[in-house]
This record gives sequence, C-alpha cells and structure tokens, in this order.
Amino acid sequence: MRIFDITFVFYFSTMLQTVRGMQDIFGEYQRYFTFLKKVARHEFRKNGFTRISTPVIEFEELITRSAGNSSDIVSKELYSFDDRKERRLALKPESTAGVMRSYLTNMLDESQPVYLYYIEPHFRYDRPQKGRYRQFHQIGAEIIGEQDPVLDAKMMHIGCRMLDSIGLKGEYTLKINSLGNEKEREKYLLDLRDFFENKKHVLDEVDLARLETNPLRLLDSKNPEVRGLLEHAPKMESYLKGESKEFYAKVKMYLEILGVPYVEDHTLVRGLDYYSHTVWEWVDGSGRTQDAFGGGGRYDGLSKSLGHKTAVPAVGFGMGCERLIEGIMDRGVKLRNKDRTHLYIIQLGEGATKLALPLNIAAQEAGLNSLISLGTPSIKTQMKKANRLGATYVAIIGIMEAKNGICQLKNMELGTQREVKLDELVPLLISEVDKKELDFYSPMKDFVIEEVIRPEPIMPIHEKMDNNEKE
Ligand code: HAM
Repeated sequence: MRIFDITFVFYFSTMLQTVRGMQDIFGEYQRYFTFLKKVARHEFRKNGFTRISTPVIEFEELITRSAGNSSDIVSKELYSFDDRKERRLALKPESTAGVMRSYLTNMLDESQPVYLYYIEPHFRYDRPQKGRYRQFHQIGAEIIGEQDPVLDAKMMHIGCRMLDSIGLKGEYTLKINSLGNEKEREKYLLDLRDFFENKKHVLDEVDLARLETNPLRLLDSKNPEVRGLLEHAPKMESYLKGESKEFYAKVKMYLEILGVPYVEDHTLVRGLDYYSHTVWEWVDGSGRTQDAFGGGGRYDGLSKSLGHKTAVPAVGFGMGCERLIEGIMDRGVKLRNKDRTHLYIIQLGEGATKLALPLNIAAQEAGLNSLISLGTPSIKTQMKKANRLGATYVAIIGIMEAKNGICQLKNMELGTQREVKLDELVPLLISEVDKKELDFYSPMKDFVIEEVIRPEPIMPIHEKMDNNEKE
C-alpha cells in the first residue's frame, strides 16, 4: 500500500510538469513568437519563398545520413525510438534533411531553384539552459537546385534583414568561412590529423574522439589549450583551390555589394556534416552568450548522401526562435499587445443584455476587441473580470441605462467615468483607441471570390433600440 502511495504521488507530480527542456509558450512570450513569424513570413514572401512543413517524425536514417554519425546532434542529442512495427524513427533535430527529402520526392519537376521556408519545432537532447532547449523552434529557409555564390550572399542578406528588423541591428556579428569541396576538405583533414598526432596528450576524451571520427570538429573545441594550438594548425583557407577559392571570393564580393557586414572566422565549421563551401553563423555580439542566433551554409553533397543519383546544389540557414525572442526581450524590445481587450461590456438585466449583444458585435466589426459579460454575475464580479483582462474601457448598461439607451463608460486607465449614448459608443471608442491596435482581419479577404460568404449585416444599434422600445 505504501509503495503504491509513493508511486501514485510520483506519477501525479511528474504528470503536471513539462518534460525537462520543453516549455509551454503562452502570454507575452507567445506574442513575441507571433511577431517573429510575421516578420519571417513578410521577408520570405517578398523574396519569393513559399512555406513548407515537414513531419516532426522522420526515419532515423535520414538524420544520421545527413547530419553525420559523429555530429553531437546524432551521437548525443537524437530522440530516436522504434514504432509499433519496429521502424527506427526520430524526432527531427533540424529541418534541412526533411526539406531535401521532400524536394527530391516532390519538387524535381518544378522550375529551379526552389525557394522554401519553414517555422518548425525541433528536438535535441541538449543540456537545458537559457537559450538551449530540448524542444525549440527554428525559422529557416533553403534554396535548392542551383549553385551560385550570389544565392549564399542573398541568404545571409535576408537573415541580416530579419535580425535588423526585429530590433537586433548592431547586436550580432555575421561570421563566415568556406569549407571548400570534398577533395579539399579530405586533404585538410589529413593534415589537421597529422598536426594533432603528436599533441594527443593535450586532448581530452571528447577531443580525442573528434580526432578519430572527424578532426574538423576539433575546431569547435572549448578547451583553451586546443584553441591555442589551433592558432598554429593548418587553416582550411589555404586548401581552397581554383573554383572553391573563386566561389568564396564571389560570396564575399556579393556580401559587400549587398552591404552586409561580416567577419571571417577560419575556425567556423558548424555542427552538421552536410556542409561544403560557404558556412556562416550569426552570433550575439554583446558577448552575453556564446550561443548563435542562427547559422547556415551550402550543402551541395546532401542529396547524394541521401541516395539521390546526382548532387543537387543547395544553400540555407536556420535561426533559433527562442534565442531571438530572449535576445530581443533582454534588450527591452516591447511589442504592441494586439490581444488587449478594448471594450468590456457589463450588462445588468434582460433589457441590457438585448442591447449589449448587438453592441458587442458592432464593436468587433469596427475592429475593436470587445467582450461581453454574459449570465448574471454581480457588477462587482464583472468589474473584477474586466480588471483582470486589462480592459481599456468598460461600458456598464444597467436597467436605467437600458431604458434610456445609454451606458456608463469607464476609462480604466484614467479611472474616469462618463455617460455615453449607446449609438455613439463605437465611433467614440474608435476615435480614442490607437488605430494600430484595431483588428480588421476578415477571412473573406482570403477568398479568391470575395462574395462566397457574406455574414448578415449588423443592424445598426439605434434600429435595434427602436425595435426594443417598440416591444
Ligand atoms: P544549427 O546551427 O544546428 O543549424 O541550428 C540553427 C539554430 O537553431 C542555432 O543557431 C540556434 O539558434 C538554434 N538552436 C539549435 N539548437 C538549439 C537548442 N537546443 N535550443 C534552442 N535553439 C537551438 C541547423 O539546424 C541547420 N539545419 C541550419 C541550416 C539550414 N543549414 C542549411 N540550411
């Protein structure tokens, strides 16, 4: 019995927690999220991208073949499992592989290159801390089907524009590097391995493993001694030959033409195996964190690693939404609250309800966020609710007000009260509320033929009142 009790308590205490490293997104944080999605949608749409969503679950092999078995994402952070039919699956740690899979199966016939963007949840079994979660979201984009250095520069330009427009202008550094082509990288890796061969005593367990599986990852080492040695190690830059050198030079030339500031970092390698040629990262320039706001690069070899017969050139980037949100929150960027209730209507008695219902709809149609308190709660309870909602105005329609076609209008911010005729209330509020807060979205605007569905026109308040009076 005792054991059962403990299990029972444990079961219920964990059931109400979110899984470590995963968070609910609501309230103010959700407003920042919506803002980011809007900025991304606007920027990508303007540049000819269309949105794609790929499944959250993919075959594990897609991930291992793309990110590489030696990457942290695969070796330490993958959420993988067998389904009921014993298929080996994984929660996606990133979207590039899934987007390439979708491109290869659905989009080869489209006019090339294909421009795609996504706003998706991803999963990595990372050590949770600020800016590092086990479920996080990325805004990302891929251009697949053409190899031109101008595309790499354009991608970085788009990313910078997004960072600038959300309030991070001057707050980040764009770091770039080139990893050359496969042959050049192979030669470089041999020399890098040779360089560290007689310095193994300096390497810890993790770095020793890196030396064995993929010496390129040593460039990511956090060990200060290794970082010191790297100053004297061979540099990828000097292994770039002919076309690769020219490609990288052109990327830089286009960045300059586009006015994108960057710094070159010859130790920048990125944590995924599919990159070749250009790689980049946007890092927090304030030095508050080592974490990157985002990163990307060219991955011309990925299609072949996934079994496609030819190499399909591609370039893309991903930005961490949570890091962007926390970055702008930390810098005091405040957003307009579009969820604010402008008008809260309190009604007392049936006569008032009859007037309040159409009044509420008229206010909503005019762009106000208007709520009505229904049922029979006391005025005190209704006022409490209005306060909790942070309503800007409260209109009280009591029995006498209903008879006279008026309301008592309270300005909750100023604490003032005045008598207003019901048919003048909506125009009055429209003149007082910040126009930018009004919401005029109508699903009809999204139909090709606007006439498909038309809601019944709202009867003007004064006509309703006339009818009521006749009753
Ligand atoms: P990545 O550098 O692994 O690249 O991730 C991109 C961004 O996602 C990071 O810079 C960071 O802002 C965010 N991020 C990564 N892990 C976490 C985490 N545990 N918690 C919070 N944010 C995180 C990619 O994923 C590539 N697919 C980008 C790409 C697209 N390359 C070409 N196309």
